[in-house]
Formats: sequence, structure tokens, C-alpha cells
Amino acid sequence: MRFLQAGCKAALVAAIGSLASASSFKNEYYDYIVVGGGPAGIITAERFVEAGKKVLLLERGVGPTVATGANETLPWNKDLTAIDLPGLSADVGSLDVWNDYMCTDTEGMAACVLGGGVTVNYMVFVYPPAHDFDDNNNWPEGWKWKDLKPAAERLYQRNPGTTLPSADGKHYDQGLYSVLSKFFNSVGWKSVDMISQPDEKHQVYSYPSWNIKDQKRAGPVRTYLPLAEKHSNFDLSLSSKVLRVVRSGSKVTGVEIETASKKTKIISLAHNGRVVLAAGALSTPRLLFNSGIGPKKQIETAKKSGINVPAEKEWLDLPVGLGFRDHPIFTLNVQTNGSFGIPDYDAILNGTDRKDISLYGKDSGLLTQGKHRMIFFSSNEVNGQTRYYQGSCAPDADSVLEIKAYLTHGATSSGVLVLTSEQKTVIEKSPYMQTAGDRKAAAAFIQSLIKDISDPGSGLELTTKPNITAILSTISSGNHYTTTAKMGTDDGRKGGSSVVDTNTKVYGMDNLFVVDGSIHPDLPTGNIQTTIMVIAEAAAERILAQH
Ligand SMILES: Cc1cc2nc3c(=O)[nH]c(=O)nc-3n(C[C@H](O)[C@H](O)[C@H](O)COP(=O)(O)OP(=O)(O)OC[C@H]3O[C@@H](n4cnc5c(N)ncnc54)[C@H](O)[C@@H]3O)c2cc1C
Ligand SMILES: *[C@@H]1O[C@H](CO)[C@@H](O)[C@H](O)[C@H]1NC(C)=O
Ligand SMILES: *[C@@H]1O[C@H](CO)[C@@H](O)[C@H](O)[C@H]1NC(C)=O
Ligand SMILES: *[C@@H]1O[C@H](CO)[C@@H](O)[C@H](O)[C@H]1NC(C)=O
Ligand SMILES: *[C@@H]1O[C@H](CO)[C@@H](O)[C@H](O)[C@H]1NC(C)=O
Repeated sequence: MRFLQAGCKAALVAAIGSLASASSFKNEYYDYIVVGGGPAGIITAERFVEAGKKVLLLERGVGPTVATGANETLPWNKDLTAIDLPGLSADVGSLDVWNDYMCTDTEGMAACVLGGGVTVNYMVFVYPPAHDFDDNNNWPEGWKWKDLKPAAERLYQRNPGTTLPSADGKHYDQGLYSVLSKFFNSVGWKSVDMISQPDEKHQVYSYPSWNIKDQKRAGPVRTYLPLAEKHSNFDLSLSSKVLRVVRSGSKVTGVEIETASKKTKIISLAHNGRVVLAAGALSTPRLLFNSGIGPKKQIETAKKSGINVPAEKEWLDLPVGLGFRDHPIFTLNVQTNGSFGIPDYDAILNGTDRKDISLYGKDSGLLTQGKHRMIFFSSNEVNGQTRYYQGSCAPDADSVLEIKAYLTHGATSSGVLVLTSEQKTVIEKSPYMQTAGDRKAAAAFIQSLIKDISDPGSGLELTTKPNITAILSTISSGNHYTTTAKMGTDDGRKGGSSVVDTNTKVYGMDNLFVVDGSIHPDLPTGNIQTTIMVIAEAAAERILAQH
């Protein structure tokens, strides 16, 4: 591959050992231009490369690993950045790079760095259960579990996740797990392995499954990108922000990019080339609005912000940003008599935690693990609708644990995402708890959890006030945004709710596709990144088959 550097960052170029400026983009060369180097973008780009296509992957951020140009390594390991070390994943938010890596033009949280959200997230890696795709008609025909299973298997082969990352076969720091597993056993829940039993999602708990491989944060930057980089038909360009796709009617002819030095430039596609958007559920809508695709009001705002949007006769009135969804989180804190606490991140960072660092040198120990110590799942039924819940449990202080309880699959609320004239995507209508059913079901679930915890024999003590209204109002974002460019058979131009068809192609366009979280028509039962990757694997195959 060639590693193009659209601005000019000497350190990075030196690290990669190949120099190319923005002017060296090969016009009318690329069969595929993939916009956004998050999980969905890297996976699809790699599959196009494997199929022999000439591919350009454009990513607005920098690389977060040594192999992709980062130079701020751990003082005690020059091959690893803080991002790579599983044991620091809970502390990423307090690192300097957090500010460099997070997007500043999305109201909801998203990462603008190679690897996208997967570079900064808590690594919880939930194999989706079959019911996520099969139990209602939200995922269209062709996108049921039987259709997606081969894509999931391709993903798991390269990026399997693990509930046991330590090479010595031991789970570390188990005080929280031992207290909570006792509690759940006493109320009749059962222990499962969330990787080998993905369909068990009612009254179950598991060791957390993490996106970790070889004791490092995994994800497509590590498990797919190197495979693409072996091929000469692949170019990656960092610090290259795409502003819009360039259209000639229903045909995309290229993309307009802004380089790190704020220069704009148009890169044109090969004859019969395609553009694939993978900028994430909060940023793909901006690209669509800027390209004259979406509600009229949003395109007008894009135009006001100074973007060179196409002439009005080319605008496509599609429901981009409508149907916006996410998992809401409710937080509970529980005092226990268990022995656990928060690791000393400063001592890990500065190298004085010799015990854990030396174990890590043997691929073992606390630093091979992520933040959480247990994940649980359950469900309830209200007025005939089944809703699912995930609980992510981590130490909050000595002997105190925090449960982040997510309302997940089966939730019926949605909101609206729009654009401002500063080119920021903002939440016009909250995606959370908009329906009476969601409010009633979440209240019932929290109520039952509180009741069990408050039982005098539980050995636990709720430190959060047991006031359901107050707990439901602690709502925070799950950061699992979806459905801003929904996939479905009901064409949005004709009053339907869908922006892309079941080949992930934008309605009304010949060669424009979307493959990221935007197209998911429904929320998964667990944290979303695994589902994002499965859908990207499947989408790459569908797109390649369209000729
Ligand atoms: C703080 C946080 C914690 C999370 N924790 C978890 C977790 O523990 N488990 C889990 O399963 N999920 C978690 N998630 C969610 C998960 O990371 C995301 O759902 C996932 O990364 C979405 O993938 P994507 O490919 O759709 O988009 P993104 O990951 O958002 O990737 C989009 C990519 O496109 C790039 N881009 C955007 N605009 C442009 C442009 N105009 N031009 C060029 N490039 C562009 C971005 O820089 C980014 O690299 C978390 C998310 C966040 C933010
Ligand atoms: C690391 O990279 C940054 C950004 O590219 C650069 O400014 C800095 O000088 C580099 N530091 C070292 C030690 O190479
Ligand atoms: C490293 O961090 C630990 C824990 O915060 C602190 O006690 C120690 O002084 C630090 N040492 C150095 C050399 O910075
Ligand atoms: C914690 O409480 C439980 C339940 O009351 C009890 O069985 C257990 O022995 C206690 N553990 C400790 C370490 O005190
Ligand atoms: C419960 O919390 C709500 C919202 O915070 C508050 O208005 C109400 O007074 C509380 N009820 C009780 C019984 O404390």
C-alpha cells in the first residue's frame, strides 16, 4: 500500500517511511472511495481490496497505534500506546489524546481517529443473539440471522473477542464478580459464557467479553487494516476530512476533501466507481446533507454553512436523521462487602506498578483485562413487547460497584438528528424514553433489580436512592447511535422510512452506499460494536455482488 498523508506531518511520514502529498491522489483511479476509517470503513475497505478493487480509505483523524504513526508510547513499552493497553481502557477519557481523538462537531460522543469509536471505547464485545435480527420486521428480508451468520463467522475468525484475555488462563481482580455472582445465583439467574451462548439473554450473567487479542485492544485497525496494507491496490490517507460527495445527478463522480492544512481538493472516481460512506451514525448524516441528500431544511442549512451543495433540482428528499436511536443508560451504585477497587492508573501509566507490568510482560494479569468485571442481561415483557437490558458492572470505589443498566433491543423510542450552520450535528429530539412502553418497561426492570438488591439477605446495599423516577432521570447516552440513514424496503422518497435499500445503496443514487451504524434499523441487545462489524462484513459482500 501507499500511505498518503494529506497534510504534511513529518513525524508520521517518517514513521511510515513513504512520502506522498495531497496532490498525489490518483484521479479516476479508485474503484472504491471509502469515507471514514472506523470499524465499518476499515472492514469494507479491506474486503474490497481483497476482491482486487482499487481502494482509497479516507480518514479525518490520525493513527492511534505505533504501526499507524502514533509516537506517544508507554514509558515502559515503546511498542504500545495507552490506547493499546486493555488495563488502561477505563482511563482513556483522562488521557491527553482523548481531546485529540474525540469529534468536536457531533453533539453525541464519537471518535474522530483511525479506528473510530473502537479506538477509545470500553471494549465490551457482545456477540449479537439471533433474536436481534429475527424477532420483528425491523431488519428486512436478507438481513436475518441466517443471512448474517456467515458474515459474523468471518468477523469472529479475525476478531474473536475474549472473556479470558490473560495468557495464564486466570481471571484477575475478581472481588466484584464473586460478590455479584453470589447475588445473582441467590435470585435464580444463571452463569453463561456470553461468547459461546450469545442467545442466552434472560436472567444471565457472564465474565465480560472484550475486544482484545494477543493482550492488546483489538478491532479492525489491528485485525483487518494490516491485511489491506499488504496490497498495492490500497491507499490510506489520514487527516483527510471529506466534506461531501460530488454528484452529477444520481451519479457520484468523486469526493471533496479538506486536508490538515485546510486545503480543499476533489478526488474523482474511476469509471463505474463507487463511494461508500462509513463516517458513523452522527457524521454520515452531515455528509449526506452536504451532498444534497436529506430533508430540505438540512440541505439548506448545509448550503448556508458554506458547503458547495448541488443545485436544488438534484436534491433527494430522504429521511436522513429521522429515526435516530441509541441505548439509554441508568446508573445504580451498590455498596458491598467484597474486596475490590479501582486500579491505580497513574502508577500503570508511569511504570511504578511493577507487579502488574511485570505480569503483563508474561502476557498475563490485570493489565490484559478491560474495565468491567461482569456483564448481565435480562428482559421483560410489557403489553406484549419484549425489551432487553444489559448491565455493565465495574468498580466505582473500594467495595462499591457501579451498574450501568442499558435499555436495549425492543425499545421503541426514536429521536431526530439535524445539522447546524456551523456544520455540527445536534440532537433535535432525544432518542430516549419517548414512548410510554419504554418508560413503563424500564421502570419495571429497575424496580425489580432494586427489590432484589434491597433484600436484607443480599449482602448488598443500594447507595443510590431507591426512587425510580429519580433513577430513570439519571439517563445518560449509551453512545451506541444508529438509524440515521435507515436500511429498508420502504423508499424514503415515496414517504417510506428508509434511506438505503437492502444492498445498502442510497435510494435515488446509482453508486453511493452507506455501511456504518447509520443504516441499522434496530438496536442490538448488547453493546453495538460487534453488530457494527458484522453488518459491515455483510454489506461489503452485498456491494461487491452488485454489478
Ligand atoms: C466513548 C465511547 C465508548 C463506547 N463503548 C463501547 C463499548 O464498550 N462496546 C461497544 O460495543 N461499543 C462501544 N461504543 C460504540 C462503538 O464504538 C461505535 O458504535 C462504533 O465505533 C461505531 O462504528 P462506525 O464505523 O459506525 O462509526 P465510528 O466508529 O464513529 O467511525 C467513523 C469514522 O469515520 C471518520 N470520519 C467521520 N467523519 C469523517 C469525514 N467527514 N471524513 C473522513 N472521515 C470521517 C471518523 O474519524 C471515524 O474514524 C462506544 C463509543 C464511544 C464513543
Ligand atoms: C510526535 O508526533 C507529534 C505529532 O505528529 C509531533 O508534533 C511530535 O514532535 C512527535 N514527537 C516525537 C518525540 O517524535
Ligand atoms: C507514579 O504514580 C504513582 C501513583 O499515582 C505516584 O505515587 C508516583 O509518585 C508516580 N511516580 C512517578 C515517578 O511519577
Ligand atoms: C459478605 O456478605 C455475604 C452475605 O451476607 C456473606 O455471606 C459473606 O460471608 C460476606 N463476606 C465477607 C468477606 O464478609
Ligand atoms: C423521587 O424523585 C423525583 C425526581 O427526582 C422527585 O420529584 C420525587 O420527589 C422523589 N420522590 C421521593 C419519594 O423521594
